[in-house]
Amino acid sequence: MSTPLLQTKDLQLAFGAVVVADHIDFSLTEGERLAVIGQNGAGKTTFINICTGLIHPQAGKVFFEGHDVTALSPRAIALRGMVRSFQLPQLFTEHTVRDCVRIAAAGKRGGLGLWTPLDKAVSAEVVDHVLEMVGLAARGNEMSGALPEGQRKLLDIAMALVLKPRLLILDEPTSGVSTDEKHGLMKTIMAALDAEKVTAIFVEHDVDIVSQYATRVAAWIAGRIAADGTPQQVLADPEVRKNVIGE
Ligand SMILES: Nc1ncnc2c1ncn2[C@@H]1O[C@H](COP(=O)(O)OP(=O)(O)OP(=O)(O)O)[C@@H](O)[C@H]1O
Ligand SMILES: [Mg+2]
Repeated sequence: MSTPLLQTKDLQLAFGAVVVADHIDFSLTEGERLAVIGQNGAGKTTFINICTGLIHPQAGKVFFEGHDVTALSPRAIALRGMVRSFQLPQLFTEHTVRDCVRIAAAGKRGGLGLWTPLDKAVSAEVVDHVLEMVGLAARGNEMSGALPEGQRKLLDIAMALVLKPRLLILDEPTSGVSTDEKHGLMKTIMAALDAEKVTAIFVEHDVDIVSQYATRVAAWIAGRIAADGTPQQVLADPEVRKNVIGE
């Protein structure tokens, strides 16, 4: 059997009395599109934070392509190819769309200094390419802070794609946009992931989006994975219907 792209073994973390990672054993194979569902506070973002090195678990391990990355920094993990986006896009709002992508690329290289010209970090062709993939090619010279929310989300994804990830973890890519806009946003994201052959995990609350775009779903309840399988299986699971979907 091939090595999982991402694997966690017995992850444990509690904030005081609140258990947010309750012995999480998880494995992801290359090519999957995994949706993570769960009510507010279930521990979805915490799981992402642990996998990407932002917080360290009290016990357990994270492996990326078979290598133990549990104690590595977020930057070291991103360099290995596991990149995440945040629930609220982390843009450089005083900079243009194009410069946001260049700053993201420069950050990866470790060459982001006051006197380092940004165009040294990444070629103009690569910047054009990632902006084109997310449909922002025409907005390169606009200030990122002036973009509407849907396009801020897409810029955030362009800033992740420029790092050439193997696994992209998206924390609620469709939050804050209208229901009408969600499908367009997801289609753009999925097309970009397909084009770049990037495996993805995305946190999502909208059941329609989950059933349409995920190949697999994992449902979080109080820090544990309560169900994991195909969208059909997980969305029909009685515990998930009661405690996650709220029926
Ligand atoms: N640094 C922290 N210190 C203390 N408690 C925290 C910390 N980070 C998260 N928590 C708590 O851990 C629990 C899980 O939070 P987490 O952000 O992982 O939930 P989530 O599933 O992503 O929820 P949401 O859907 O609202 O984004 C919550 O009760 C939260 O208040
Ligand atoms: Mg969250």
